[in-house]
Amino acid sequence: MWEMVNNRRILFGEGKIDEIPAILEWYGLKKVFFACFNANPSIRERVCAGLDAKGIGYVLYQKVKGEPDLHVINEGRDLYVESACDCTLAIGGGSVIDAAKAIGMMATNGGLVEDYQMQGRQVTKLPPFFIAVPTTAGTGAEATKVSVVKNNYNGLKKSLYHNTMIADIVILDPSVTAGLPKRLTAATGMDALSHAIESYVSLNATPISEMNGLQAIRLIGKSLVEACENPTNLEARGDLLVASYFGGCAISAGIGIAHIMAQPIGAMYDIPHGDACSIFLPLAMEFNLDLATKKYAQIAEALGVAEHSATDEANARKAVEEVKRIRAAIGAPDSLKPYLKGASTDMEHMLDTVKRTTGHITCNPRPVDANVYQQIFNLAL
Ligand SMILES: NC(=O)c1ccc[n+]([C@@H]2O[C@H](COP(=O)([O-])OP(=O)(O)OC[C@H]3O[C@@H](n4cnc5c(N)ncnc54)[C@H](O)[C@@H]3O)[C@@H](O)[C@H]2O)c1
Ligand SMILES: [Fe+2]
Repeated sequence: MWEMVNNRRILFGEGKIDEIPAILEWYGLKKVFFACFNANPSIRERVCAGLDAKGIGYVLYQKVKGEPDLHVINEGRDLYVESACDCTLAIGGGSVIDAAKAIGMMATNGGLVEDYQMQGRQVTKLPPFFIAVPTTAGTGAEATKVSVVKNNYNGLKKSLYHNTMIADIVILDPSVTAGLPKRLTAATGMDALSHAIESYVSLNATPISEMNGLQAIRLIGKSLVEACENPTNLEARGDLLVASYFGGCAISAGIGIAHIMAQPIGAMYDIPHGDACSIFLPLAMEFNLDLATKKYAQIAEALGVAEHSATDEANARKAVEEVKRIRAAIGAPDSLKPYLKGASTDMEHMLDTVKRTTGHITCNPRPVDANVYQQIFNLAL
């Protein structure tokens, strides 16, 4: 039994962000809540000029600096309502997209974000029309109905979600990721690869998530190293945007031990999410290899390293080796050591945090407990 929620329309191609004003005009929208990243003002200015030319009003929201917290969402919602906006546009990484997703939902549903996050308040009204434009190729947040928000009171990152919170329109424009620095390209690429691989072997995988995951793996295998070496290669950038999008479509089928570890450990030691995924992904693959051998062999095929005469076991190993090779080639991290700085780690506490914040723990091919956590943590040192 499964179900899937998809965006209504996806536009792919260089310069596609220039279509935003015409899309909004077609829908008869008059005032946009425009959440934007700060790193590249020329993209923002280009879109604003297009909105001005069509006489569409906008309110800029540039307060999302990192992963959104309660304050960023509640403040954004107030601004949306005071400014009488009628739609939402997000141009940015997963943080900006998630913030806009939650702000839009709250603009029509009311209340505080913590009511939905912690008290289980339900979404009962359709959020406003929402266009999402990712500027990183990692989270795939543009493809999901989920918004991850950090709770300032208890430190937990917890999702809000509803079928109607997914972006109506997604624009995958490779030119907006051309300026993404190598370090971020590498980290977000490893995040996307982790989504694709972990969802592919998830115990809750579906035919659609498998299709999306495998295609994401192919594209990342083909283009992640190239995009890191030649950042303005728009074909490679486009491959990664599509891969990240497919990864986002696939993660509704669940993620595994790499993410289960990356989330709390990343939060505890202040490790960027993609870097934490990079450290844990090959270890997670090795840990699961015997319980999903055939699927890892298929991953090796998608990465272009499988040998037809070899056994599934041998090809599955090749998949792990190839992920390690890609990681080394892009300079992504393979060890927790530089991040720990002597701090101690309470595994029971971390596992408890994971249990309280995510249901994904049941999707990993091999059962996970505190001992496994400790073992993998030690291997990551
Ligand atoms: N909604 C979901 O389904 C989902 C899934 C996974 C993760 N997430 C969330 O996504 C967030 C992480 O997203 P992310 O990895 O995209 O990072 P991010 O959005 O936090 O961005 C990271 C940094 O990259 C910069 N940046 C973004 N695009 C750039 C560009 N084109 N050029 C230069 N700099 C650029 C940003 O300004 C920021 O400083 C987290 O908050 C995480 O919880 C959401
Ligand atoms: Fe992730």
